[in-house]
Amino acid sequence: MNSFGHLYVLTVAGALLLTGCNLAHGKPGQDSETVAPNEITDFATLYAQNCAGCHGPEGRGGAAMALADPVYLAIADDDAVQKATAGGIRGTAMPGFAQSAGGMLTDKQIDVIANGIRSRWGKPGILEGSNPPSYFAKSVGSAAQGALVFKTYCGSCHGPDGRGGTRGSAVTNDVFLTLVSDQSLRTVVITGRPELGAPDWRGNVPGKPMSEQEITDVVAWLVSQRAADARPTNSTSNYAQR
Ligand code: HEC
Ligand code: HEC
Repeated sequence: MNSFGHLYVLTVAGALLLTGCNLAHGKPGQDSETVAPNEITDFATLYAQNCAGCHGPEGRGGAAMALADPVYLAIADDDAVQKATAGGIRGTAMPGFAQSAGGMLTDKQIDVIANGIRSRWGKPGILEGSNPPSYFAKSVGSAAQGALVFKTYCGSCHGPDGRGGTRGSAVTNDVFLTLVSDQSLRTVVITGRPELGAPDWRGNVPGKPMSEQEITDVVAWLVSQRAADARPTNSTSNYAQR
């Protein structure tokens, strides 16, 4: 992820250098093909330059989850996508892109990206009739209940204690839990990682969708497995810490 950050900085620096050259040669504005980085308003370009390194080309997923996931976009509203993009997610690899958060993008560019993600990759109505869980936790989770929920819905792939199984990696080790926010755990429990074969909340046990409370409880249990000194600073209060 670091190397991507460097690449990004280099790319931007390169673009600035080019602009500088044009000016030095006394031909400002003549080269209509060189658009200043903060003037770019094409979604595909902005996405490719800023997001694809982690969320994958065309939003299909990479080190970070797929954004071209209509189930995700039906659960997370505009505000959630916009806020994460603008402000980043503290304590994780997700950087803030708005200038107010130390990023390089203008508010207009953030809008283009957030709106583009939804208009290109969303499918309005896709969850109609399926009583989808809420993006944010609505209640306080019980880690004790969550341990049982995990065995029922998750153990078949991640192993009964989450230490990894043949069909899913370890999700209770500190290396993983230190780098991930509580909300991201919830997001993944709800949406799965369809691009990697991880089912959404309806598909862990066929015919038995997880309830809102089961989702909240299993996240509380995952959070309780995180070492006390190793939690991202943005941990939400809905998940009791050990
Ligand atoms: C350096 C890697 C990296 C880059 C670049 C990156 N992301 Fe992320 N993104 C992440 C990670 C990791 C997470 C999960 C963070 C967490 O634990 O909450 C994330 C989370 C998100 C989320 C929230 C997901 C949720 O749970 O609701 C959104 C939305 C998002 N990214 C959009 C973007 C957009 C748009 C861009 C480009 C402008 C982008 N990201 C660039 C790594 C990255
Ligand atoms: C049918 C198998 C299967 C089931 C059931 C399943 N998962 Fe997964 N899960 C996967 C696969 C495959 C991945 C992606 C590759 C990996 O990390 O192993 C994954 C990824 C994850 C990740 C990491 C996502 C990331 O961004 O790296 C978490 C956290 C997770 N699962 C939690 C759960 C929880 C909690 C449950 C139960 C509610 C569950 N999974 C049920 C297969 C499964």
